[in-house]
Amino acid sequence: PTARLTVDPGFRIGAVDRRLFGSFVEHMGRSVYTGVFEPDHPAADEDGFRTDVLDLVRELGVTLVRYPGGNFVSNYRWEDGVGPADRRPTRLDLAWRSVESNAFGLNEFMAWAAKAGIEPMMALNLGTRGTSEALDLLEYTNHPGGTALSDLRRSHGVADPHGVRLWCLGNELDGPWQMGHKTAAEYGRLAAETARAMKRFDPGLELVACGSSNAYIDTFASWEATVLEHTYPFVDYVSLHAYYDPTDRDTDSFLASAAEMDRMIDAIVSTADHVGAKLRDRKKIKLSFDEWNVWYQSRFGGEDSLDWQPAPRLIEDVYDVTDAVVVGSLLITLLRHADRVGAACQAQLANVIAPIMTEPGGPAWRQTIFHPFAQTARHARGTVLRVEPDSPVIETERYGEVPALWATATHDEESGEIVLFAVNRDRTSPLALTADLRPFPRARVVEHLVLADDDPGAVNTAERPDRVRPRPVDGTEACDGALTAQLPPVSWSMMRLA
Ligand code: AHR
Repeated sequence: PTARLTVDPGFRIGAVDRRLFGSFVEHMGRSVYTGVFEPDHPAADEDGFRTDVLDLVRELGVTLVRYPGGNFVSNYRWEDGVGPADRRPTRLDLAWRSVESNAFGLNEFMAWAAKAGIEPMMALNLGTRGTSEALDLLEYTNHPGGTALSDLRRSHGVADPHGVRLWCLGNELDGPWQMGHKTAAEYGRLAAETARAMKRFDPGLELVACGSSNAYIDTFASWEATVLEHTYPFVDYVSLHAYYDPTDRDTDSFLASAAEMDRMIDAIVSTADHVGAKLRDRKKIKLSFDEWNVWYQSRFGGEDSLDWQPAPRLIEDVYDVTDAVVVGSLLITLLRHADRVGAACQAQLANVIAPIMTEPGGPAWRQTIFHPFAQTARHARGTVLRVEPDSPVIETERYGEVPALWATATHDEESGEIVLFAVNRDRTSPLALTADLRPFPRARVVEHLVLADDDPGAVNTAERPDRVRPRPVDGTEACDGALTAQLPPVSWSMMRLA
């Protein structure tokens, strides 16, 4: 089979926002404890951060990290996690039926994010708490000094305010599993009043209203409509969350998961624009896809199966080649919506459905899904171009016909580099790709890296951490404004041209 696409700098979708390469650190399982933070580990630094994990985080190219939850945040008291570590209370975390030591809290997270060179995205507890506690946290975090809470921060050894700009107004409050679950109208009012007060403190803050927790919940889209009717003037983003489960669908449908993400984005853009039109507000709400990933969710026994352990091994999914190809296709989809998706966080960063795995006291390694993320975060720069692939289709049970080729391209006007990101979803046939590059007649291939394997079920483990990794392929050529390449079955490709 053959497929074609066209790369033309005249067809711009939008700028690549660096916030698209976000991740997520929740107090859940071993994401924090023995993930990013393990003071007794041989590689821990003076703050107790694992430097082996920090190195991998930098290599992954993460730009933004959402913290501290997730479901966890909806029953969290931020005050428990600040001040002298030996005086912090141990608490029950009702979200994950775990014991929280509070050894790691706000100031540790900010120090870690600074070391990793990452922008923080703070989530507020609008489940069991409200506007007042959110404002207290904001004052503690961002006010320079001279008030009770800013001076409290200073007394904790943090002289300068953290200057956090991006705040999530709660987490998944549409979900009945959430502590403090609300109706859309209840949440909309609370989010609006919290946002109004936060913007009084600093109009430059960027606020994210909670959207639906998934596209299958009954209130999907109507939740966003009601919430935005209340919050529209005060918020900048609405959130989207989606996980794609390889075990609840056939493989062809799973490989086409990006079709679902694509529809979800379109649905929420339309919903937000409908509210904007009704309110005669010309501002456009951006989308924050602040939880997305592959998750073998049906293997998770549920919260009730958990029994009050500190940092239990929780949803430590091991990802294979097919999962990595799907993750690549989801990244392509986010880029293809660069005009409206302004932030995105893969959930999560370490151990919990994560690209980085660790063993307590032991090694850290890259899962298969690490690679498409790292390549995209590093090389997708400048402008996303509309490439309009023309491809054979695959008939899927869940989404009907989907193109075998899923692709996007970026053009960095400064360096002149053009990068093509492409997935072949066909499970048996390679795709012969031709890209029309006529506006770039002198473009030459710098590299074509492919992630594929004779065994699409191959995984990386502590024993074989590099079993699956991208490999260069020969034969990809660009000449007189035409690129030709072979994309193996079930593969992710990154092609760089200069
Ligand atoms: O990322 C795991 C969980 O998934 C988060 O805590 C929650 O927000 C979502 O349901």
